[in-house]
Amino acid sequence: MSGSHHINRRDFIKLATAAVGSLITVVIGLPVIGYLLHPALRSEEAEAWIPLGPLENFEIGVPTLVNFTRTRVNGWERTANSYGVYIVRTSDSDVIAFSNRCTHLGCRVNWNDEIGGYLCPCHDAVFGPDGGIVRGPQPRPLDRYTGDDLKIEDGIVMIFFTEG
Ligand code: FES
Repeated sequence: MSGSHHINRRDFIKLATAAVGSLITVVIGLPVIGYLLHPALRSEEAEAWIPLGPLENFEIGVPTLVNFTRTRVNGWERTANSYGVYIVRTSDSDVIAFSNRCTHLGCRVNWNDEIGGYLCPCHDAVFGPDGGIVRGPQPRPLDRYTGDDLKIEDGIVMIFFTEG
């Protein structure tokens, strides 16, 4: 004779199934929660304001390269892309800024004091101090940050960066 407090076989199977279900939820759920809580594992936004440093650190008239990295996460794959921007301080309170990606095929240009312009090492494109085309195969000037894409906030030079 079994009392009402005893678990019969059917109830036991139901309880065991529920327990296994809960365990699976925890096992699957914990990494997801960890992923959501851990900022280092998340993708950075494709668009963001990037701080490039205090205005006072940039010498007037000297093109200065600033590099930064953006991280993308795709499933288990984590990709860090690095980007470069040339900052040229034009006065006590102003700067201009260019991407260092050549507009021909995307190599990185370098400021060259001798020619007074940006030189691309891949196919010898030359861009002037204002980023304009001097000579070479490039179809357009260097991409320039202006107006809504460039600001100085609390003394920090910032660009609005869009990936891709
Ligand atoms: S990539 Fe710069 S000249 Fe071709």
